[in-house]
Amino acid sequence: MATKPTGSGFFDSLYGWVNERFKIDALVEYMGDKKVPVHGHSIFYYFGGISLFLFVVQVVTGILLLMYYRPGADSAYESVRFIVANVQFGWLVRSVHSWSANLMILAVFVHMFTVFFTYAYRRPRELTWLTGIGLLGLALMFGFSGYLLPWNELAFFATRVGTGMAGAIPIIGDDLMIVMRGGEEVTGATIGRFFGLHVAILPGLFTVLLAAHLVFIQRQGMSEPISWQGRTEKDKQYQRFFPSFLLRDLLVWLIALNVLAILAVLFPDGIGAVHWPLGTKADPFAPPPEVIRPEWYFMFAFQALKMLPAHVLFIEGELFGIIVFTIGGVIWTLVPFVDRKAGNRKASYLMAFGWLVLAFIIAMTALGYILE
Ligand code: HEM
Repeated sequence: MATKPTGSGFFDSLYGWVNERFKIDALVEYMGDKKVPVHGHSIFYYFGGISLFLFVVQVVTGILLLMYYRPGADSAYESVRFIVANVQFGWLVRSVHSWSANLMILAVFVHMFTVFFTYAYRRPRELTWLTGIGLLGLALMFGFSGYLLPWNELAFFATRVGTGMAGAIPIIGDDLMIVMRGGEEVTGATIGRFFGLHVAILPGLFTVLLAAHLVFIQRQGMSEPISWQGRTEKDKQYQRFFPSFLLRDLLVWLIALNVLAILAVLFPDGIGAVHWPLGTKADPFAPPPEVIRPEWYFMFAFQALKMLPAHVLFIEGELFGIIVFTIGGVIWTLVPFVDRKAGNRKASYLMAFGWLVLAFIIAMTALGYILE
């Protein structure tokens, strides 16, 4: 049970004031009832929260960048250069925004795979899984659209390759590519579209999906490990969400903030495979650089498509790859409906599929950087 304020002291009076107007007693009681299972894999319950925290960082630093960023082929690169060279702490804001974007996508991947391997997608959490898949898709689109915005050489050619790959999709490919680019080629019109997506459409959609995701979690509570099935209540261990888990969550966020601050200050342009030096301005007529690489989270798909032969079974190699990825993606999205088992029964074939997907992503990503 939640401990409601007793009516004395400043905070109690404040609580009384708010409660009289908005009847929050029931909400506080409800929050106090929520409990989080404690077990060997409890640590993974924090990755959803870390993703959430990093998204908030993205919104705040994104708004700060917006104060000086100017979309357009004649102004985008110059405005980003102005931000990092002239605006006070502008370099830091850009660095935090870029680091936080990468860490958020990493946290979302860890979160998704742990949800998968702990069977947390099973009934009644099908819609939590589906909203999660939507959030992952939007997060990847955030990354793709943001990459072009500085309008530097690296981003320009990577976007040309990336949007070109969309052009290989059967039937809708050509039209899709033209809609994405705002014409046949990547130009200032493409920046306009990517900018609109990045700062208006994606944040709006993301916020709606995230709200649904969090409401579902709040209504259904955290999943319990399947090994707990059939145990009596006294053999299960829980902690209260409020305040115990929330305080731990806050501590994890503080640690994430420190990691973020250290990385952003020490490596403002990123490091190794995760980097975003401003470099030179995009020149559509210049020859492409020797190495064109996408961001690390697209590398597995990029590398797999690159390694396919020109033709597979009479189909063009790239098209074959896209078909296989689409089928894999549909199965992954529908996992809660494919796995109809319940209770403590394991779905070994699905778990094998999950390990295969994970191994494939890691192996292709590594190969992408080794063979570069
Ligand atoms: C930016 C994206 C995301 C955010 C901010 C987010 C946030 C959260 C939070 C805060 C929780 C509760 C704590 C936890 O279990 O970690 C959670 C749970 C959950 N999330 Fe996500 N999530 C995101 C993406 C995803 C993705 C990609 C999936 C899977 C496709 C997913 C599926 C789930 C499921 C099924 C639960 C319930 C877990 C349980 O009951 O044990 N989420 N999410």
